[in-house]
Amino acid sequence: MIIEPKAVHDFYNGVMEGKPVMKSRKLLKDILTAYENPDKGEDPERVMYEVYCYEAEDKIQQGSLSWGLTVMYPECVNGEFNFTRGHIHQDTSCGEFYFGLAGEGLLLLMDIEGNAWAEKISPNSLHYVNGKLAHRLVNTGDQVLKVGACWPSNAGHNYEWVEKHPFPVRVYKKNGEIVCI
Ligand code: PA5
Ligand code: NI
Repeated sequence: MIIEPKAVHDFYNGVMEGKPVMKSRKLLKDILTAYENPDKGEDPERVMYEVYCYEAEDKIQQGSLSWGLTVMYPECVNGEFNFTRGHIHQDTSCGEFYFGLAGEGLLLLMDIEGNAWAEKISPNSLHYVNGKLAHRLVNTGDQVLKVGACWPSNAGHNYEWVEKHPFPVRVYKKNGEIVCI
C-alpha cells in the first residue's frame, strides 16, 4: 500500500507541516552589549541570526522532543564573528544534538568550572552537547551558517547563567584568519 505523506517538513528552511516556524530573529541591537568592542557606527537593525523551533507535542512532557534550526548571517562586529547569545539548560540532565547543515562555524562549549573549548561545525558534522555544558554558536565563514538541533522539550534555556559566567573565549577575524582569544 502506498500512503500519501500527511505533512511537509523541510529542515533546511525551517518549515514544519508546510509552514515556516520562525521563533525569534536577533538583530544586532538585541545582542550588541555582548560584543567586546561594539562600534558606534554599526547598523543596529542588522539581522544576526534566526531560530526556527518546533515542538511536536501540544503539551511538554517528559520524553517530548524539540527540533530547531539556527540560521546565522556572515556578519562581524568590529572584527568579532557573529555569535549566539549562548545558554546552559535549565535542567542540566538534558543534553542536545547539534548538526551542521551549511556554512562553517564553531560550537563553543564551557563546563561549570569555566573551562571552554570549541568544535568545528561544517555540513554533516554532528555534535553532542552534554546538559552540563553551556553552548554558543559562532559563524566563522563568509556564508550563512545553518545548524540543526534536537533536544528534550523540558530542557529550558538558562541565559542568566552565561551572563554571570561569560565564555572566556572570543573569536575574531584577523588578517583573514580565525583567531580565538
Ligand atoms: O536550543 C538550542 O540550543 C538552539 O536552538 C539555540 O537556542 C539557538 O542556537 C540560538 O542560541 P541562543 O538560544 O543561545 O540564542
Ligand atoms: Ni541548548
